[in-house]
Amino acid sequence: MKTEDLKKLLSEMSLEEKVMQLVQIPGSEFEADAAVTGLSDGASTDRAKSLVGSTLGVWGAEKAIALQKKYIENHPHHIPLLLMLDVIHGHKTVFPCPLGLGATFDPEVARAGAEVQAKEASAEGVHVTFSPMADLVRDARWGRVVESCGEDKYLNGQMVSAMVRGYQGDDLQDKEHVAACVKHFAAYGGAEAGRDYNNVELSEHTLREQYLPAYADGIKAGARLVMTSFNPLNGVPSSGNKWLMKDVLRDEMGFDGVLISDWAAIAEMVNWGFAKDLEEASELAMKAGVDIDMCTSCYSGNLDKLVESGKISMELLDEAVMRVLTLKNDLGLFEDPYRGASAERAKEICLSKENRELARAAVQKSLVLLENKDSALPLSSKKIAFIGPYVDEKKIHSTWAISGDPETNVTIKEAACEVYGCADGSDGEIRFAKGCNMLLNGTDLGYGVYKVENADTHELEKVENADTDELVKLENDAADDERLRKEAREFAGNERMTQESRELAENERMIKEAIEAAKWADEVVLCLGEEIGQSGESTSRVDITLPKPQDKLFEEVSKMSKKLGKKLITLIFTGRPLDLKDIPEKSDALLICWRPGTEGGHGIMDVITGKVAPSGKLPMSFPWSVGQEPLHYDHYNTGRPKPSEGMSIFSSRYLDCPNEARYPFGFGLTYGSTVVSEVKLSKDVLNSMCSNSVNESAGITASVTVKNAGKREVTETVQLYIRDMTGSRIRPVTELKGFQKVTLLPGEAKEVAFEIREDMLRFFTINNRFESETGRFTAYIGTDSSTQNGTEFELV
Ligand code: NOJ
Repeated sequence: MKTEDLKKLLSEMSLEEKVMQLVQIPGSEFEADAAVTGLSDGASTDRAKSLVGSTLGVWGAEKAIALQKKYIENHPHHIPLLLMLDVIHGHKTVFPCPLGLGATFDPEVARAGAEVQAKEASAEGVHVTFSPMADLVRDARWGRVVESCGEDKYLNGQMVSAMVRGYQGDDLQDKEHVAACVKHFAAYGGAEAGRDYNNVELSEHTLREQYLPAYADGIKAGARLVMTSFNPLNGVPSSGNKWLMKDVLRDEMGFDGVLISDWAAIAEMVNWGFAKDLEEASELAMKAGVDIDMCTSCYSGNLDKLVESGKISMELLDEAVMRVLTLKNDLGLFEDPYRGASAERAKEICLSKENRELARAAVQKSLVLLENKDSALPLSSKKIAFIGPYVDEKKIHSTWAISGDPETNVTIKEAACEVYGCADGSDGEIRFAKGCNMLLNGTDLGYGVYKVENADTHELEKVENADTDELVKLENDAADDERLRKEAREFAGNERMTQESRELAENERMIKEAIEAAKWADEVVLCLGEEIGQSGESTSRVDITLPKPQDKLFEEVSKMSKKLGKKLITLIFTGRPLDLKDIPEKSDALLICWRPGTEGGHGIMDVITGKVAPSGKLPMSFPWSVGQEPLHYDHYNTGRPKPSEGMSIFSSRYLDCPNEARYPFGFGLTYGSTVVSEVKLSKDVLNSMCSNSVNESAGITASVTVKNAGKREVTETVQLYIRDMTGSRIRPVTELKGFQKVTLLPGEAKEVAFEIREDMLRFFTINNRFESETGRFTAYIGTDSSTQNGTEFELV
């Protein structure tokens, strides 16, 4: 449709029709009778449902086609419905979680993965994905770090823009791609104390230098949507933050696409005490330029009144509606509302061999080797025991792979059986033992076993894994009858106790079995980790160690391995950096596997058996202790950086823990080792006046020679960091400015060169703008952020 036709369509729409284009409801609600989430009471009619502009959570070609068909028939102007979905790290073929993708330090892996996701999701009727998440994350307590590419703005920006390109392709009309939504604008990752949905306070220079760049990169790459964040930023909730959304997002970053609220984020401004009611919240959001209200009745119940009373101008409303219609038009929905959704296509594409191969390669590249004493890996013996709750666990994706089917995931056991050809695992070269349950009685997730009152029969019924709210509800008001309440309380207490002792006994038995398997083996592969529900939305933790039963299993198995001289290889499945306690010391090798997705088992076996050498690098610092959080490599120096003469006590330090990360950002070993030479600079003075990206020779070339000192082919990620020695505002001790992958045969050496340009040295100065300042800098090149391999230069 041409723009004039869109404008004509807009001019023919009634106020109600316009308002409803800005309303999103969950797909399940199309079938609901009344009280629809996202529609006010007065609007929960069939008519209203036939007018809402978009929905979320619908996938499956037949379902999507049927919904669209009915919707268009009922819509007065036959405007198509937009179908959105959280396709975060996979639709059917699930790739490693975004944190794992960050660990690849390979934007092409992220791009190709996003393209696969777009292909699969579009065949199943999806038009928009709520991805990528561009939030910078520095606090491992926050459960959503699993959805981010990590703590560094540059790496994050590279990955985010690659994902946008992968999802959207070159042309949005191409039915194999979907529109991308950069989220959560802005600084959601800065939540106080790492607690989800919490407040964010940031200075403007930290916001602009650290947090905003990755969103901006996603927008530059062409993302068609942006999602507001739940958090207030310096006192103003994002969904009502006019400065953030208009001045920064629209004017400075040039974003002209659709701005959608996060789920209920507009309404939550009332809870924050920023709006007195939903009407005021709607007014604030509209004035901030939020186009779509996700799943509350704010817009559906209030926008018409606000326009009629003149508080919101028709012009403002029209602008928002036009943006939604433009997106539908750019997706080609007016011409083909089903947009390539087809059950046959989906069957052919979803989980295809090619897609699975790409996912497997992504897993291989995402694994980070933290320890490998005496070349414990790759596995070399004939007798291997695979032990732990992750050996045969299907849930190795994250909670955000909502359309993926865990049954299609390949476990370690399945992959090991393929390698060693002993499918029953009963004898031969390998053995398996679960060792313990993943969690103890669900208590690590805040769940338990309770009795709750059945609403119809008023009898008490046993409910497993009810959350603690249920118990509170039960004790407070659910059962009016004192006898019932007493009985329920006793039951809950006893049941929890018996359940716990049953599980402890079961774990004891499993540990014994595991020890037997380990005694038989020469090498033990211990597969441990967080449970799937321990990372993701609303999963903040203050204790970022392994769940308790696994601690015990590790203790027993490591003790036995040491005593009998067995090699202990520990694999950790996790959605966040963990406090690894004594695992690194007591393991011969330690591999971080993240949440690897569909091809997890295969990719991990490829690496531990030595088919492929590990090449992943940490996208977030691993701490010694949770007390160090938030922890990031690009911190400030402080006035008292380390104990110096006469100042041994009064330095910026902890009494009981180092300042540094246990494993720093960018760190990861491979099989063998690489050696990096000293940094050579083509010149040591950079002229800010004639240095720009057009005139390449004006930059400084910083280079090193990287040599493979090992006995097999490896891939190293060579990283360039720069330190600005002084500035009109204090500067981080180091900042990542570039990285390159280099693959080397045994003994081979290659030169790796980076260009340093003036624009790479800019920061948000005391003049409140991005600019460079003359002075001294150090360029470091190494294999992780702690490198001190540097040479100075000057900007004049
Ligand atoms: C809430 C989450 O914060 C957001 O990331 C997600 O896209 C929406 N819900 C929709 O599911």
